[in-house]
This record gives sequence, C-alpha cells and structure tokens, in this order.
Amino acid sequence: MKKKRIHTLQQYHDKDFEAVLTLCQNAYGFDSFSRELLHEKIYGDPFFDLNLIWIALEEDEIVGFLMGTYRMDIRAVNYGYVKMMAVNPSCQRKGIARSMYELLEKELRLRKLDVMRLGDVPMNYFMPGIDPRYTPALCFAMRLGFNRFSDTANLSVDLSAQEWMDEEKIKELEADNIEVLRAREEDKKELMDFVAEEWKLWQYELEMAFENEPPAIHIAKLNGKIKAFSAHSANNKGMPWFGPMGTHPDLRGKGIGKILLFACLADLKNLGFHQAIIPWVGPIDFYSHHAGAIVERVFWRYEKKLN
Ligand SMILES: CC(C)(COP(=O)(O)OP(=O)(O)OC[C@H]1O[C@@H](n2cnc3c(N)ncnc32)[C@H](O)[C@@H]1OP(=O)(O)O)[C@@H](O)C(=O)NCCC(=O)NCCS
Repeated sequence: MKKKRIHTLQQYHDKDFEAVLTLCQNAYGFDSFSRELLHEKIYGDPFFDLNLIWIALEEDEIVGFLMGTYRMDIRAVNYGYVKMMAVNPSCQRKGIARSMYELLEKELRLRKLDVMRLGDVPMNYFMPGIDPRYTPALCFAMRLGFNRFSDTANLSVDLSAQEWMDEEKIKELEADNIEVLRAREEDKKELMDFVAEEWKLWQYELEMAFENEPPAIHIAKLNGKIKAFSAHSANNKGMPWFGPMGTHPDLRGKGIGKILLFACLADLKNLGFHQAIIPWVGPIDFYSHHAGAIVERVFWRYEKKLN
C-alpha cells in the first residue's frame, strides 16, 4: 500500500527565502519571480510580520508557502490578506494550502480583523486579486468560504506605439500657470500632505517611488502648488509598473493627467521596457484613450467576512 506522506507547518524564517523563491517560480505558472521581487513582497510589506507567514515541509523540503498580512482601518474596516500562496505542483490537493490558511485565519481572528481578502493588498501587492487562470486558487477560495465581490484589470501599453510627449498641451497648461516637472526630494513633504486627505493609502507607494534615482514621480503645480502627480516603479520594482496617479478634482479635464501619464511612460521606455503595466484599474477609458492601453489581465476579487 502507498504510504501517505505527511506535511508539517512552520513559521517562515529568513533562511527559507531561497527555497521559497524556487517554490514560487515552480507554482506560479503565469508569472515569473525574481529574487528582488519576492524580497520586496515579503520584506517590503509595511506590516511585515513573521507570525503571519508559514511554510509547509515534507521530509525537510519546503513544499508550501503562505504569506499573510493586514491593513487596519481602511474606511473603518480592518482587513486581513493572503498576499501570496504557493504549493509545489507535486504536493497539491493534499490540504497543504488549507492548513496554512487556517492558521492565518485563526491568528487574524484573534487580532479582531473583520474581513479576509486574497491578493489585493494596498501598498505592497503582487497582483490585485486572483487571475482566474489560477483555477485551483479560485476553487480554494470558494471552498474556504470566500465570495467574489468584484473584478479588476491590469492594462498594458505598447511603449513603442508613439512618442510620449505633447508639447502643445504642455504649452497650453503653462499658459494657465500649470507646470509639469519631475518631483525632487524637497517636494516630498508637500506631495505627502497633498495626498494625505483623499489618497492616504498611496503615501507608501510614493515613498517607494521616491527611492528611485531620479525619483519616479512627476508632479503638476498650479501657481507653484502641487495639484496632481503620477508615479511608477513604486510597487513590483523591476517590472514596468505604473501608478499611482491623481489630479485634484478642481483641475480635472484639462489634460494634466495625460501629460503626467506620458511623463511616466517616457521614463519606462527610457529604462528599456517595451510595455508598461497599468495595474488595478480603474478608469480604463482614460488610459485607453490617451495611451492605447488594452486589458491584459483580469483578476477576480474575493472576500470573507470574519466578524
Ligand atoms: C492554490 C494552491 C495554493 C492550492 O494549494 P493546495 O495545497 O493544492 O490546496 P488544498 O489541497 O489545501 O485545497 C483546499 C481546497 O481547495 C480546492 N482546490 C484546490 N485545488 C483544487 C483543484 N486543482 N481543483 C479543484 N479544487 C481545488 C478544493 O476544494 C480543496 O479542498 P478538497 O481537496 O477538500 O476538496 C495551489 O494550487 C497553487 O500553488 N497554485 C498556484 C499558485 C496560486 O494560484 N496561488 C494563489 C494565487 S492568489
């Protein structure tokens, strides 16, 4: 009779990183993982907590990984997340992901979290939900009591399709005392204050974009005051990742967003990328109209109410 192999669960430690990287590279068939990317997803999480990250072992080999995290008080709701989850293809359908998830849920219930979600972690996420081609993950979500509440999409832009410059529009804006320029370190405080009210959750990504040299942020100033911004290379560094961007409601419809979008796309092209990814969208028509963006990937979003 075939002997049933059993797995054990342990908390993740730094020494497990390389094995987890190999596991993710094997399990995520529609994505590729660099060392830097996985490092950012685990250690770059602003609420990184080793007590929420597990590995599963079979005879000393790491065959499962699950990273949880949380975000408190997003419009008065406390969210827990599975940011990433991977089980070695040869070890799937043995309850490994389920047993790691149950540990996470138990821990997050103790911390009085209200809702669990899958993937779509603000500030530092890999993907904004589940790509439905990961069908076992959808089955997993349904089986563990999650409900699909929304969809979202990543768009892609062909960076070779046009020049990312509209001099006429820039002149028009200048005539209205609106200047578009790359953010400098000394603009940081004003930019953080500008986003504090409406887009507080984006402050973290803007911090990340400021880390690039030069800062991967462009701003628009009206009479010297910041009124709009766009950023790239903030999340999933090493990938041509656009965003976030925002324009003050009073100045929308003037073409500022277009010029700010173009500035980031020009940066990404200069960095040698052939396409840009505009993730977790949002206003598809805006990006499609100005940059010919197309839906490249869809994600289903799932949640489970805990309390
Ligand atoms: C998703 C994934 C982590 C599941 O790991 P797993 O250890 O095989 O999952 P489990 O054995 O714990 O499955 C739990 C339940 O999910 C459902 N499920 C999981 N895989 C399934 C599949 N291939 N077909 C149908 N149902 C499936 C089942 O209902 C299962 O319970 P059951 O066996 O009692 O019926 C694994 O398939 C994987 O690594 N996929 C690639 C990466 C990925 O998609 N990650 C998630 C992105 S957010």
